[in-house]
Amino acid sequence: MSDSLIRAAVIGDPVAHSLSPRMHGYWITQAGVSGSYTSLHVSEEDFASVVRLLPKMGFTGVNVTLPHKEQAARIADVREPLVERIGAANSLTFQADGSIAAANTDAVGFTGILKATLVSRIITKGAALILGAGGAAKAAAAGLINDGWGRIIAINRTPAKAEALARSFPASIVEPASWAELPTLTPQADLIVNATSLGMRGKPDLEISLRDAKPSAVAADIVYTPLETRFLAEARHQGLAVVDGLGMLIHQGAPCFRAWFGAEPVIDETLRAMLVAELGERGR
Ligand code: ATR
Repeated sequence: MSDSLIRAAVIGDPVAHSLSPRMHGYWITQAGVSGSYTSLHVSEEDFASVVRLLPKMGFTGVNVTLPHKEQAARIADVREPLVERIGAANSLTFQADGSIAAANTDAVGFTGILKATLVSRIITKGAALILGAGGAAKAAAAGLINDGWGRIIAINRTPAKAEALARSFPASIVEPASWAELPTLTPQADLIVNATSLGMRGKPDLEISLRDAKPSAVAADIVYTPLETRFLAEARHQGLAVVDGLGMLIHQGAPCFRAWFGAEPVIDETLRAMLVAELGERGR
């Protein structure tokens, strides 16, 4: 491709729901760069061959969403250490030498929004309770460890997956625990993260009592459809600080935009309001 347009995309199956084209489109306009960001609906069977073709079609990089994050990590030629640890990538960059580099910005997305939201609040980096043990839970755990959290407890419906998550990090930083221990662990937590799909529109709610949670605790949800999950509503009701899933989406996209378009992404209320409006339209 000889034109100077920088091309990027999000690849998924399904992908029509993705907010990434809107978000990157806003950043492209704000930064005044010559770029395009589209969505590509690609099946699991076609993923590897499509990805190999994209650099030849002038693409600089792609975000990868469900169900391709593990395959993206596998087919890359170069993986950052976090991708090796988690076994999943959410971004692929097509490098000048023809190689494909895999990164996972979900971890910095998670800690980025925690910092941005709680900027005026002193948050004790003590115990973090993570519910879930999939890719999102691993990314959250990695981000928190990197940020200096001392104790991370992973609780999952399938205990073997929480144990596997714990094993993928240095000795004893992550403790696996069972769902039945939730009532005794909740009061010890400085941060409670829902990294399961519970609470998503069409799925059951996350049933958790926050009555005994520390008043200073923070509740974070990776779910953003709806924006205010029952879990976050309950946390707000108990007076806890809350962090919703839209912030994580924005903060995982920002480093990708920076890398591919070579400009600073504008993170402001206009962007958030635009994405919230988009979600609202879909929810109807
Ligand atoms: P992701 O990579 O986005 O985290 P995932 O790997 O499918 O997605 O993980 C989804 C998480 O939600 C898992 O921790 C899953 O628990 P299991 O490992 O036991 O499947 C959790 N989850 C999904 N539905 C659930 C339910 N009804 N009750 C409890 N946990 C649930």
